Amino acid sequence: MADQKPYEQEPNLLSPNRNIAPTSTILNKEGKLLIGGCLLSDLAKKYGTPLYILDESTIRLSCAAYREALCKYYPGDSLAIYASKANSSIAISSIIKSENLGIDVVSEGELITALKGGFEGGKIFLHGNNKSEEELLLAYKSQSTIVIDNEQDITELGRLIPRGETPVKLMLRVTPGIECHTHEYIRTGHLDSKFGFDPEKVEEILYQLRDCKWAKLEGLHSHIGSQIFELQPHQDLAEVLSETLLLAKRIGHQINDLNVGGGLGIKYTNSDDPPTIQNWVEAVARAITKACEKRNLKLPRLICEPGRSLIGTSGVTLYKIGSRKDIPGIRTYLSIDGGMSDNPRPITYQSAYEACLVDRPLHTPQETVTLAGKHCESGDVLIKDLSIPQSSSGDILAVFGTGAYNSSMSSNYNRIPKPATVLVHDGSSDLIQRREQPEELLRYDVFPEHLRKVI
Ligand code: LLP
Repeated sequence: MADQKPYEQEPNLLSPNRNIAPTSTILNKEGKLLIGGCLLSDLAKKYGTPLYILDESTIRLSCAAYREALCKYYPGDSLAIYASKANSSIAISSIIKSENLGIDVVSEGELITALKGGFEGGKIFLHGNNKSEEELLLAYKSQSTIVIDNEQDITELGRLIPRGETPVKLMLRVTPGIECHTHEYIRTGHLDSKFGFDPEKVEEILYQLRDCKWAKLEGLHSHIGSQIFELQPHQDLAEVLSETLLLAKRIGHQINDLNVGGGLGIKYTNSDDPPTIQNWVEAVARAITKACEKRNLKLPRLICEPGRSLIGTSGVTLYKIGSRKDIPGIRTYLSIDGGMSDNPRPITYQSAYEACLVDRPLHTPQETVTLAGKHCESGDVLIKDLSIPQSSSGDILAVFGTGAYNSSMSSNYNRIPKPATVLVHDGSSDLIQRREQPEELLRYDVFPEHLRKVI
């Protein structure tokens, strides 16, 4: 039903990306919202607001969905790896590790977080279109796989890897030249992309890598974009990757891994209708199998690297409602105690979200408001037309679908501290990232001597 609220819908436990709310979301007898067995208003009281909440069971169900669908639909070996750019912390890494997934990292920070979370190099993959020397060296020393994106990666690694030592494990990222329908900022598969090798270049690079004693090319990689609801572009990718695999084999490489990237979308609002994780994996697995069989290629290990669809709908952000401004005949602004610094997605991609009052989610909406953030920017609006019951200053509001690319893209704009993150499970809550304190925002400020004299 199009107008049903997130917490009124029967959750899809097999494919959590199809729910707006975390899978454990329920209402108690008084009609108040609980997630992971914890009353949201209690969490707001205990940890303060704004507050990121992650539901452990939703994350684990999503991991199981990818793992099991790969086993079911792909006849060869497979591995799902979590794109930790979606939300990176030691606790999340450890959950992902305990679910037997791998992890994709794109910086030294994400790499050390994965290592602290218990990952070993064998299951870590480093991406990036401009990797630093430190990133390359740490990835090599931890025996992670490095996904080479351009010629500088090859030159730098050739310089950094000591001769006679274990070769560095590599994957080659190919720009597949595939268009898909998503926001232009999060499209990566089209030819005009900063990521990966242009298809015209791939043959030359494959020859170059064959002659590098310090490198072992183990796989090919492509990623077409994010928040995608279509299956066809992912299926088209199978042709590009298997054709490149054939080329690599002819050139003399023994390649075992094909990484098809991530990209499956999630349901942010009632009008979003993403495929299930099972549909997505089935489509990808069948396309890769068919494309490899057509070329008489031994089935490679199939790797996929979901971020958003693994963690997005496990997250909810709690805010406290503050001031109100009624502009007769125009709109009512309701301001909250966070905004674009904890969720930059609306201002960046015009993303839409669902929200409700945590203690009165079923009350009949009485007004339509514009939910404004507290930052000094008119565009700092989280939700444009939100229908809610009458509210007053101090009421707690939950915004759904904030598990991916919220905390990880947060900033300190206006010197506003970053929120805490709490993990909920079986009626308990654990702080996994503590709230930043205003004084901590000064920790990198340096006050030069000559200015002191002026004071
Ligand atoms: N692999 C690679 C190489 C990627 O670049 C990405 C996402 C993923 C996997 C995971 O994609 P996902 O399954 O999450 O769609 N900040 C944007 C999203 C940027 C995505 C960047 N790359 C947003 O908030 O929508």
